[in-house]
Amino acid sequence: MKKSALDYILKVRLPLALFVILITFALTFYASRAERDGLGYAPEQPIAYSHKLHAGLMEIDCQYCHTGVEKGRHALVPSVNICMNCHAVARKDRPEIIKLTEYYEKGIPVPWKRIHKVPEYAYFNHSVHVNTGIQCETCHGEIREMEVVQQVRSFTMANCLSCHRNPQENLPYLTEVKNGPVNCAACHR
Ligand code: HEC
Ligand code: HEC
Ligand code: HEC
Ligand code: HEC
Ligand code: HEC
Repeated sequence: MKKSALDYILKVRLPLALFVILITFALTFYASRAERDGLGYAPEQPIAYSHKLHAGLMEIDCQYCHTGVEKGRHALVPSVNICMNCHAVARKDRPEIIKLTEYYEKGIPVPWKRIHKVPEYAYFNHSVHVNTGIQCETCHGEIREMEVVQQVRSFTMANCLSCHRNPQENLPYLTEVKNGPVNCAACHR
């Protein structure tokens, strides 16, 4: 092999190959981390629905749409019927509302992308937390200001426990609050 060719391999190709490997590792690690704690996840949704507009500006109550929060495990994402209470009339001519109406008329649920999710083997229940007086914002951030919902708090075990051990510190707006459970069986049933 000529010297210049070897030089080229060592000085250009090799560092480039190492760089590519490094980036691949970094991205894989980043992706798996994001998958685990979900922080910052804000997928584009099939309909450009805005919380800032509906829950912020128009001040529609969270529970008008998320009907499960006080009753059960899941907050629930509303069906198109709830949207159509208004959009059978409001802004019918807009492209996003035309899309919405198509889902409604075909009877297909809007395929909203799920943002917050704890793994199947862990148990979380909205009603217990919400009825204790914990605000949505403590766990979900300033939803009323979000055009697109983003996960702002990670729900790793460490994060759940950090509040369960020090609820007062995490919930300064509550005058009285019990500690959350820290025994394994409470969350792994
Ligand atoms: C008019 C109906 C409506 C109102 C009012 C509303 N939401 Fe939503 N919410 C939705 C829809 C539809 C989605 C799914 C699409 C999206 O993520 O934007 C959603 C998604 C969410 C999610 C993410 C769910 C996931 O996939 O993890 C959170 C958290 C949330 N809303 C919290 C709130 C809070 C807090 C309020 C009150 C401040 C509120 N919402 C008011 C309709 C509503
Ligand atoms: C209480 C009535 C009400 C409900 C319920 C409601 N909306 Fe709206 N929505 C409105 C009004 C009014 C506007 C127009 C606001 C403006 O432009 O100032 C609007 C605007 C929108 C827009 C923007 C349209 C455009 O391009 O101008 C979208 C998209 C939308 N809504 C989707 C939804 C979805 C999806 C749901 C159900 C999860 C929903 N809305 C539930 C009243 C409602
Ligand atoms: C103590 C923290 C906490 C509080 C308070 C809380 N959430 Fe959640 N929320 C979560 C977690 C954790 C998940 C994921 C749950 C799962 O995967 O089962 C979630 C998921 C959701 C979802 C996705 C759909 C579902 O049913 O799981 C919506 C919508 C939602 N929350 C809305 C709300 C609203 C609205 C409030 C206030 C009324 C609220 N949350 C209060 C932690 C919280
Ligand atoms: C307050 C609720 C809560 C309690 C109490 C709790 N866990 Fe968890 N645990 C979770 C959640 C949520 C996850 C999933 C998120 C994650 O991986 O951090 C999890 C994940 C795990 C995992 C999988 C970790 C991984 O990296 O895949 C193991 C193992 C585990 N828990 C064991 C335990 C043991 C042992 C105890 C008792 C000492 C315990 N947990 C108590 C909520 C809890
Ligand atoms: C911001 C504070 C906070 C966060 C974050 C939080 N919790 Fe809790 N949790 C509490 C408090 C306070 C209680 C005790 C309520 C009571 O007994 O009055 C509780 C109670 C519970 C209970 C016992 C009631 C029941 O449903 O059986 C479980 C299980 C639980 N939490 C699971 C979780 C899991 C899993 C996570 C993380 C995904 C989590 N919590 C995150 C504050 C929190």
